[in-house]
Amino acid sequence: MELREKAQGLVDRYPVGRSALLPLLHLVQHQDGFISDDGIAECARMLGLTKAEVNAVATFYSMYKRAPMGRHLVSVCTNFSCKVRGAQEVYERLVVRLGVGHNETTADGAITLEHAECLGNCEGAPVVTVDYFNYECVDPDGAVELVERLIAGEVPPPTRGFPSPGIRDVEHRLAGLGPVRTAEPGVIPDQTTAQDAAPAAPAAGPGFTAATVEGEPPADAKPAEFADAAGGGAQERGPEGMGPQSGSSEHAYGAGSGGRDEATDPGSPPAADDQEPRDA
Ligand code: FES
Repeated sequence: MELREKAQGLVDRYPVGRSALLPLLHLVQHQDGFISDDGIAECARMLGLTKAEVNAVATFYSMYKRAPMGRHLVSVCTNFSCKVRGAQEVYERLVVRLGVGHNETTADGAITLEHAECLGNCEGAPVVTVDYFNYECVDPDGAVELVERLIAGEVPPPTRGFPSPGIRDVEHRLAGLGPVRTAEPGVIPDQTTAQDAAPAAPAAGPGFTAATVEGEPPADAKPAEFADAAGGGAQERGPEGMGPQSGSSEHAYGAGSGGRDEATDPGSPPAADDQEPRDA
């Protein structure tokens, strides 16, 4: 399906066209990897808004980035619950390891780092997300191991859900258009949807490790449905040292504590009228 056709399909979902702005901006991020000037102009044209109005929305919500993102967006919650359990140390170790700061991307284009406000998963503090998939109880060493595996093209299984195929695929889901399969995470060769494409081969390329392919939901299933089908959360534990705080094995990373929280499910498009800014 062509990009313009997808965009018009989003607009047509709403009785008032401007309600489609948030999903359209996710579609822009899927296409361009960030909120580009061309994307803003196209959203404004389609919705009868001014570019200033679109830009005002795009700069209000922290999920919209005005600079190109890497293959993966790594977010470290540094709000209260996470901070008292060591999140600042987690963030600072990643700053040193990656050589980038807030909303900056590594030179190899692998990772964009950000510190985030409460991610709504305080019981798993400190929380790190990769493309909005939660990794709970992450300590500094575990965080470094996590990003090193991402740089190497692996995506460890998160605490809940399935390994992210890359931020641009997730942006397609956040737009409400379902998953996109690509040979290389973060690089969208065309606008082929999972419904149109043949399933990826297990050795599809960096990032599509066996765990990624085996953990993928059916092409026509939402992640939440996949999680339910898998028994309510990932069954596979993450690497040693990535999660548990000392002496808190019951909160171990990757343990999976039930079904996904819809509020943090990247597969569930946010309602245009009730999405809360993460750091407002
Ligand atoms: S304070 Fe970090 S998830 Fe709530």
